[in-house]
Amino acid sequence: MATKPSSRQSASKTPIDSLMKESRLFKPSAAFTKQANAGSSSIYKEAEADPVKFWEQMAEELVWKKKWNKPLEWKAPDAKWFVGGTLNVTESCLDRHVLVNGTTRRNKAALIWEGEPGDRRVLTYYDLFRQVNKFANVLKKFGIGKGDVVAIYLPMIPELVIAALACARIGAIHSVVFGGFSPESLRDRINDAQAKLLITADGGYRRGQIIPLKHDADVALMDCPSIENVIIVKRGEFLLRVKEGRDHWYHRHMQEADPWCQPEYMDSEDPLFILYTSGTTGKPKGIMHTCGGYMTGVHATTKLVFDLKDTDVFWCTADVGWVTGHSYVVYGPLSNGATQVIYEGAPDWPDQDRFWQIVEENAVSVFYTAPTAIRAFMKWGRQWPDKHDLSSLRLLGSVGEPINPEAWVWYNDVIGHGRCPIVDTWWQTETGHIMITPLPGLIATKPGSATRPFPGITAAILDENGKEIKEGGGYLAITKPWPGMLRGIWGDRQRMIDTYWSKWPGIYFPGDGSKIDTDKYFWILGRVDDVINTAGHRISTMEVESALVEHPVVAEAAVVGIPHELKGECLVAFVTMRSGMNQDERLLGQLKDHVTRKIGALAKPEKIIFTADLPKTRSGKIMRRLLRDVAQGKVMGDTTTLSDPDIMKKIKRHYEED
Ligand code: WTA
Repeated sequence: MATKPSSRQSASKTPIDSLMKESRLFKPSAAFTKQANAGSSSIYKEAEADPVKFWEQMAEELVWKKKWNKPLEWKAPDAKWFVGGTLNVTESCLDRHVLVNGTTRRNKAALIWEGEPGDRRVLTYYDLFRQVNKFANVLKKFGIGKGDVVAIYLPMIPELVIAALACARIGAIHSVVFGGFSPESLRDRINDAQAKLLITADGGYRRGQIIPLKHDADVALMDCPSIENVIIVKRGEFLLRVKEGRDHWYHRHMQEADPWCQPEYMDSEDPLFILYTSGTTGKPKGIMHTCGGYMTGVHATTKLVFDLKDTDVFWCTADVGWVTGHSYVVYGPLSNGATQVIYEGAPDWPDQDRFWQIVEENAVSVFYTAPTAIRAFMKWGRQWPDKHDLSSLRLLGSVGEPINPEAWVWYNDVIGHGRCPIVDTWWQTETGHIMITPLPGLIATKPGSATRPFPGITAAILDENGKEIKEGGGYLAITKPWPGMLRGIWGDRQRMIDTYWSKWPGIYFPGDGSKIDTDKYFWILGRVDDVINTAGHRISTMEVESALVEHPVVAEAAVVGIPHELKGECLVAFVTMRSGMNQDERLLGQLKDHVTRKIGALAKPEKIIFTADLPKTRSGKIMRRLLRDVAQGKVMGDTTTLSDPDIMKKIKRHYEED
C-alpha cells in the first residue's frame, strides 16, 4: 500500500502559490485502491449525476424506524433531508452491533481509552450499549426528555461519549462545552441554550496538572438559573464541594439504573445537538444539527474517507468538545462499528513520544490529527516517532486548518513511511461532516491541497459577485444543499441568514478563501473574516477584544491573527490604556491571565502591545488590516483613510521595540 511521489522534490519551505505550479503528485497504490471502500471512480460520476440519490443510498446504511418519503426539500436557506423518516441514531451506533442476530461486534472493542496518567479501560460494544442505556435512564430519572438541552463539560473519558449517546437515546439535545473553556464561557453557553442539566467531572488530567472542572462549573453555575441538576463523574480523588439536592454522583445512579432504555424515535429533522463555535462577533453561535441528515453525512464520510474496516483501529485525536470529536469520535466510527482509541491528555506527556507509544501499543491503523500537532511533532524531532513501531498505520488524516506542504511531506515520510495515503479534510462545525477531501484509493494527492469535494458535494470558487473562478483564488462556496448542513443558529435565525446565506443567493458561504488549480484541486487558504484558526481552534478576534476591554485598565483593544510557526496562526493584541496606568510586564501578564479567565487558555494572545492610540478610519472603524501588517513586519498598507496617519508610525516603532 504505497503512496509514492511521481516526481520527488525536496521539502523546502514553499508557499502555496509556487507549490500549485509544481507537479508533485502522490498516487494511491493499486493495492490500496483494490481494498478501498471507495475503489472505483464511478462513485464520483454517479454522485455528480444525481447527488440526492447518492445521499439516499448513504442513508440506507443507517437504521431507520420509518423510511423517509421524500429525500430533500430545499428552499434556501432551509433544507429538510429524508423528510418523514424517523430514527434513533443510537440504534445505528450501538443496537445493530449488539442486538442483531449474527453480529460479530458484540464483544468487539468499541473504545480503547487511555488516561493521561497511564490508566486504561476497554469498552466493548456490549459494554458501551449497556452504559449508554443505563445513563439514558438516569437522565430520565432527573426529568430529562425529548427536546431538553443537556450541557456536557467533561474531560476526554469514556463517559463523555456515553453522555452524548445517552442524550441521543432519549431525544435530548446535547451541548458539549470543551473542558478547556473558562467558567464564563461555560456559563454563557448554558444560558444561551437554557440547558436543564449539566454533566461534569470532579477533574481531568492535562500535562500532569489537574483540570478542576467541577470547581469551574460551580463558578459558572452561580449564574445559570436554568440548571436544575448536576451529575458528577468521578475521574480521580479530587476535592470538591457537593451541593446537596443539586449535585449527584454518576456512579451511584448508574449502579441502580436499568440496562435497557427504549429509544425515542425522532423525526429525521429533529435536533441531535448544538455545538457552539466562534463567529465574527463576540457572541458564540450555537450551531444546530439534526438526526437524519447529519448522521448520514458522518456515516458515509467515515466509511469512505477513513476507509474503515472491522480490522482497523481508528484514532481521531480531537477532543469531543469540538465538532471533529462529535463526528469522528462519537457518531461516525460507532455507526461504522469501528474500534477506536481515545486519549485524555497531552501529546508530550510524560514525553514527546506519547502519541507514538499509543499508536504502537494499540496497533492504530488509521490516524487523524491536526496540522498544529504535526508541526509540533516536527519541531520535537523524528527521534520520537522513530523509537516506535508505526508499521500498523495504513492511512493518515489532517483537519482543522491548512496544512503547509512541509508538514504534509514530513507526515508522509516520518509517520507514514511513504506507505500511507494522506487525507487532508476540509470542513466546519457548520458543515457537520467532511466536505473537501481526497478519497484515499481514488485521488492522487498534492501536499497542501484538500483536493476535491466529497461525492455528493458541490463546491466552487466565487468572486464577490458570485461569478465562478475556474482557475485562481476567491471565496470558497458550497453551491448545493448537503445532508449535514447546519439547520440554524440556536435562537438566532437572522444571524444564520446574515452569516452564511446573504453573500450570494441560495449559496452557502463558509468564510474561507481558496484557490483552485487546473486539475480542479482546492487549496484552502484560511478565513477571510475576523475568525482565526489557532492551534486548530476557532477563535473570534472580537471575542478576545471584548474580553480585554472588560479589564479595568484597558480603554480599547484590537486583536489580529498572524502566521505562527506551530499554531498556524496566533493572536496579537494592540491595547490602549486608561490614563495614568503603568504599562509594565506585570500588567502584560495580568491581561493575558484575564483573557484566559474570560475565555480559556486557547484564546490567550501571544503578544500584547500597548499603544497610545489605534488606527481608525475617519468614521471610527479600527483598521485591523494595518495592524496585521505591522504585526507581521510587512510594509504598511494604504493609510490614506486614517484619521491620524502618523499613528501607524508610532505603533510600528513601538511594536519593533517590543
Ligand atoms: C479551517 C473543524 C484548511 C477552515 C473541522 C474552516 C481547514 C475552519 C481545514 C472550521 C483544512 C478546517 N484545510 N482549513 N483541511 N479544516 N479548516 O468549525 O478555516 O472548528 O472554516 O471545524 O477550520 O473550523 P471548525
